[in-house]
Amino acid sequence: MISFDEFDEQRSPRPDHNDFSRLLQRAVSRRGFLKTGAAFGVSAFVSGTAMHSGAARGDEAKSLLGFSSVAANSEDTITVPAGYQWHAVASWGDPLFSDGAAFDHKTRGSGASQERAVGDNTDGMKLFHLSEDEGVLATNNEYVNRGIIHPDGVNNADDVRKSKAGHGVSVYHIKRNNGKWSPVIDGKYNRRITADTPMEITGPARGHALLKTKTDATGTTSKGTWNNCGNGWTPWGTYLACEENFNGYYASSDPELSLTAEQQRYGIGHSDWGYDWYKFDDRFDLAKDPQESNRSGYVVEIDLMDPNSTPKKRSALGRFKHENAELVIADSGQVVVYMGDDERGEFLYRFISRARYKPDNMRENRELLAEGRLYVARFGEADEQLAGNGKWIELTAGKNGLDADNGFATQAEICIHSRVAASLVGATTMDRPEWVAAHPHKAEIYCCLTNNKNRGLQPNRGGDDTPVGGPNPREANLYGQIVRWRPHNGDHISDSFDWDLFVLAGNPAVHSEGLKAGSDNITADNLFNSPDGISFDPDGRLWIQTDGKYTDEGDFAGMGNNQMLCGDTGSGEVRRFLVGPKACEITGITWSQDYRTMFVGVQHPGENDNYPSSFPGGPGSTPRSTVVAISRIDGGVIGS
Ligand code: FEO
Ligand code: CA
Ligand code: CA
Ligand code: CA
Repeated sequence: MISFDEFDEQRSPRPDHNDFSRLLQRAVSRRGFLKTGAAFGVSAFVSGTAMHSGAARGDEAKSLLGFSSVAANSEDTITVPAGYQWHAVASWGDPLFSDGAAFDHKTRGSGASQERAVGDNTDGMKLFHLSEDEGVLATNNEYVNRGIIHPDGVNNADDVRKSKAGHGVSVYHIKRNNGKWSPVIDGKYNRRITADTPMEITGPARGHALLKTKTDATGTTSKGTWNNCGNGWTPWGTYLACEENFNGYYASSDPELSLTAEQQRYGIGHSDWGYDWYKFDDRFDLAKDPQESNRSGYVVEIDLMDPNSTPKKRSALGRFKHENAELVIADSGQVVVYMGDDERGEFLYRFISRARYKPDNMRENRELLAEGRLYVARFGEADEQLAGNGKWIELTAGKNGLDADNGFATQAEICIHSRVAASLVGATTMDRPEWVAAHPHKAEIYCCLTNNKNRGLQPNRGGDDTPVGGPNPREANLYGQIVRWRPHNGDHISDSFDWDLFVLAGNPAVHSEGLKAGSDNITADNLFNSPDGISFDPDGRLWIQTDGKYTDEGDFAGMGNNQMLCGDTGSGEVRRFLVGPKACEITGITWSQDYRTMFVGVQHPGENDNYPSSFPGGPGSTPRSTVVAISRIDGGVIGS
């Protein structure tokens, strides 16, 4: 199966090459970096002393990592360190209500059964604690594996009903009995949010002409959410589901339909990704309802504690291919949300709420994400240690050249066409920003830049060049890196920051020198590619999940299946903690109230016919995305 990005590029090719005349200026300014790098010796830089995150800062704290490393492998199971255990909590198709049906390995369910069951492709998740042994688990269901969920293809309205219900968010009460966590059938919080659930649009875009559609002349509502990838959560108890590759669900029954420049910027084309929703639901047919697609691509806030609540799309946080939403409370009390736009050459964003968080007034906090300022990151050039500074550029109508002349007379337009506004202010094109995670003890933020085969070779979809440099130092970046930044004065609302790379993934066994070998915290024992999900635990361990190549060959030899590693951001050490089953991605992480159970998502095992899987049921069973619970056999703190 090809990736969303591959599909978008095949369907609507972007401009061919970077514009050399525009690159020239950057190339000149890069010369200093190359020269300095040469002075250090590139191999010395890679394997020597120059770039080693925490060590370079002289942080000598005791290691946070107390487990024994797991070897890479290509098995069809979960591997955890000695002294640890795991079990499956819930899989795609498990019923959440007593009127549901047990998963059928032959048909893989119907529209009706899927609406009452756990969705497919578990992704970002969060457990809201009720007690040490109980909680409400929310998991994103990013998409459906068409080749698996539809054994006979997409042929009729019920297939589409099943597909739409396989998407969205699954919310369910879970409980620990005799050391094992499992769903509470008919739990009062159990709920399925799907591509058909009514939602409200809030913030600057609410009611704007661009959001008025055939089904809503007011432009204030939206129906459903899909391709919810990473997530977030708020201290006032709500869950954030982030809409990522929303574009791949729209198609046009009229092959001649002309598409706007903005639609093309978001990768909306004449054909969808193969879901065929448009054949049975006019909302997804661009020829019938051309503005419908403006109602997706947002962060959705959901009150899990009220199963009847209407989810709210937060337009103030911008519209793009949202990965996750990492929320912190700044010293001022304002809420700051960091967000990546996961597409080759797209940007990193920050939102700052207008109003302040009130720990004693949870009801007022509920609209904090409705109003605030949106920013995009501009990174400065890298020095010889691959570090530099950067700035947040405000995306506000009337500022930084955004005005009626270029299509941004109002904030609503900025919130709907955020990518276009960000290009106009000169944001830095990034190597696919995936999850962002904020350190729990200091103002230091990390973002996975998963990979980018177009770096230095092709512009982004808006025509912005993607020069090699700054935090994106490798042409045709195969392996990915994790950038981190420290806001000046330790203040999340500061508009300037310093950045460096925590880790540059690579393969020193295959590439003995140069940047493809990776940073010096990459060794034969922790090879990985394509970091994607990241999250800190309360002790400050950085958990890193991968969504990369699992061929275990060539450039990827020695990496095995997708995995989860743990980083000590003080020492720079990265150690492999878990290996997933065949052809899966490891994504999504949350903990029990006592932090003695870690929940991790296994997404699309066996997605590729060349790497067949029967996880978790074992031989003969359908491969199913699954949430697993991991604990220490001695009940200790995970990772320590
Ligand atoms: Fe759904 Fe960017 O991963
Ligand atoms: Ca992801
Ligand atoms: Ca990814
Ligand atoms: Ca995925």
